[in-house]
Amino acid sequence: MSTPHLDARPGDIADTVLLPGDPLRARHIAHEFLDGVVEVNTRRNMLGYSGHYRGMRVSVIGSGMGIPSCAIYATELARVFGVRRIVRVGTCGGVGDVALGDLLLAQAASTDSNFNRLQFGGHDLAACADFGLMRAIADTASTQGIGLRIGGVFSTDCFHGGDPELAARLLQHHIHGIEMESAGLYGVAMREGFRAVSVLTVSDHVQRGTHMPAVQREQGLSRMTALVLDSLLP
Ligand code: HPA
Repeated sequence: MSTPHLDARPGDIADTVLLPGDPLRARHIAHEFLDGVVEVNTRRNMLGYSGHYRGMRVSVIGSGMGIPSCAIYATELARVFGVRRIVRVGTCGGVGDVALGDLLLAQAASTDSNFNRLQFGGHDLAACADFGLMRAIADTASTQGIGLRIGGVFSTDCFHGGDPELAARLLQHHIHGIEMESAGLYGVAMREGFRAVSVLTVSDHVQRGTHMPAVQREQGLSRMTALVLDSLLP
């Protein structure tokens, strides 16, 4: 039962999946956080692993960059492997008064992509996160004293977009994060009927032109991953 993009076998993948963009980040998360790690996908080097976090079976797989890649994996994980919860753990560019290392919980994702329109008869889909997952992550962050900004993000098809007005327009709409996947993930989740949410670490600031140093980036991503895993526990 492999798919064009996943060579996992039936049962290899847990019903809860963490989805970082970078497959090497997936490998890092698996080895840092999971017990009994098994590699379940190597097709196209989009590394995937399954294991246990405090007794909860979980998988972690790279999504690749951009909505098309993320949507392919999310669709096949749901349709073929029966995945019911997907949490994107990614990075984003910050806009306005966010600092490097801040965590954003993406309640909704606006986009310049045509992906959801293609799926939704040309209409604008309100691509939004699963409320239960959002609530669990917000509650855990609050219990653990971790600051979390909840709000909209913008998923762009153009990393090197060069639109100088975009950041101002996002800020005007109180959108503080720009990345490349969440609108597609949410659209697929709504279509396929699984639960999804994105948690993002601000890795660079779009207006200030600043970037997180590698060590800080590493620590920030680990902190975010621990928060997500704790939130998913029953
Ligand atoms: N733009 C799009 N995606 C991103 C960015 C950005 O500035 N930073 C991290 N992912």
